[in-house]
Amino acid sequence: MSQPDDHAGSRRDFLYYATAGAGAVAAGAAVWPLVNQMNPSADVQALASREVDISGLTEGTQITELWRGKPVFIRYRSQAEIDAARATPLADLVDTKAENDNLTPEAQATDENRTLDPEGKWLVMMGVCTHLGCVPLGDGAGDFGGWFCPCHGSHYDQAGRIRKGPAPRNLQVPVASFVNETTIKLG
Ligand code: FES
Repeated sequence: MSQPDDHAGSRRDFLYYATAGAGAVAAGAAVWPLVNQMNPSADVQALASREVDISGLTEGTQITELWRGKPVFIRYRSQAEIDAARATPLADLVDTKAENDNLTPEAQATDENRTLDPEGKWLVMMGVCTHLGCVPLGDGAGDFGGWFCPCHGSHYDQAGRIRKGPAPRNLQVPVASFVNETTIKLG
């Protein structure tokens, strides 16, 4: 006559706990990459802000840098450009909003509100036409001595403000700041 297997229960328990334990480890292993994925990766953090060396620029020159996948114009303006931009009355502008992410949305599009330093030597703007997104030409291009978008003929002045053509807004001024005399931080 066969005896009930006294050990059957403990074997089942062992199998149950062993399986549950393995499951927990597997679940933990699956959850970790998920949690880890939620932290911004190093390249995403680097994209959020970016430092640009401006030591190579001389008065009247500019560079175009790529930031967050878009071009950014950084121009070291000449005194003639500054004077012309600052002499322009607001009444002559198509878009009177500053379009400056460092300021409130109501800020006016004065040259002072769009430049990085109080003297107005440094102008930092997104290099994206506000009409349909082409990259405007710089270095005094267009009828207003600033930038010109050849896609459909938009003219921007020395402060990147739209003056003529189909573009509705001034070129966007992104959040930017000086880290030191030769470095500008975007973002
Ligand atoms: S995209 Fe610049 S004028 Fe149309």
